[in-house]
Amino acid sequence: MKGIILAGGSGTRLSPSTDSINKHLLPVFDKPMIYYPLSVLMLGGIKEVMIISTPEDTERFERLLGDGSSLGIQIVYKEQSEPKGIPESFLIAEDFIGKDDVTLILADNIFFGQGFTTLLRNAIKKHKHATVFGYRVKDPERFGVVEFDHHQNAISIEEKPEDPKSDFAVTGLYIYDSRAVQIAKKLKPSERGELEITDLNKEYLKWNQLHVELLGRGFAWMDAGTQESLFDAAEFIKTTQQRQGFKIACLEEIAFYLDYISRDMLYEKGKSMEKTDYGQYLMEIANRKHNQQYWDAIDHHPMLGLAGNE
Ligand code: DAU
Repeated sequence: MKGIILAGGSGTRLSPSTDSINKHLLPVFDKPMIYYPLSVLMLGGIKEVMIISTPEDTERFERLLGDGSSLGIQIVYKEQSEPKGIPESFLIAEDFIGKDDVTLILADNIFFGQGFTTLLRNAIKKHKHATVFGYRVKDPERFGVVEFDHHQNAISIEEKPEDPKSDFAVTGLYIYDSRAVQIAKKLKPSERGELEITDLNKEYLKWNQLHVELLGRGFAWMDAGTQESLFDAAEFIKTTQQRQGFKIACLEEIAFYLDYISRDMLYEKGKSMEKTDYGQYLMEIANRKHNQQYWDAIDHHPMLGLAGNE
């Protein structure tokens, strides 16, 4: 399974904050926005990742995350010359995807909830054809919207409908087989001049090959695409982290628990930013000698949402 993070776009909805920097490098409380989607791919067990961004910004992401080796994964980068639509990522990543399945995540999407890792890993394991994730929202007209029959099978999917047929938004996390590349090649731009991910999903739906996984009320899904939603997301992360003392989307912590990096690497990374709360957090985890007993004592792994030492 390959992973793609789409982090381009024009960011006009966040101007002037994004006039000189890519939206996905802005902080969501204590870390750059891109940490959140990358944490999702890592928790899903995906180790080969491509980040796609604008010609101006790709290098900035590379400066931030490098080749991924400090997280025990591989990250490569590609440019999208103009924001011509989400499915264009499959054309850009054609060689990278090859014959593999691929998970795409939009870089402004934040997921959080007990059991999310298990849900994602199961979705990846049982995945065939196409899987999308549905989430109930109050304002479905802002999103791709999926409608179900009584057996929870998807029967229609529409992009930003004026009159939504359900309250279920399609989140910016998608799993496809490698046919997505060929399907993307045949898509035509919509009225807003973009290739639409909803049109690609409609193709799978036509063949009865679109599976929808629902995220229940215990999950938080946010897209930090507007000033307001970015502020809400930051507030949510701050409140949750401060209450529990666990960080959300702390990439080095995830890499350490997944055994991708050693305790020493974790400590050194923390030390390199010891003046920050983030750095101290990493050092604290590295110094905790009995992490396993600690997790067992509270019944489950609090961050990964996995039972025991999975
Ligand atoms: O967040 C979920 C929603 O994302 C879905 O429900 C919709 O079906 C889907 O079309 C998309 O809607 P948005 O209106 O939020 O898409 P937006 O144009 O804002 O782009 C989403 C992210 O993808 C954003 O972080 C920028 C990036 N992007 C977008 C386009 C069109 C690119 O990097 N390149 C692009 O060409």
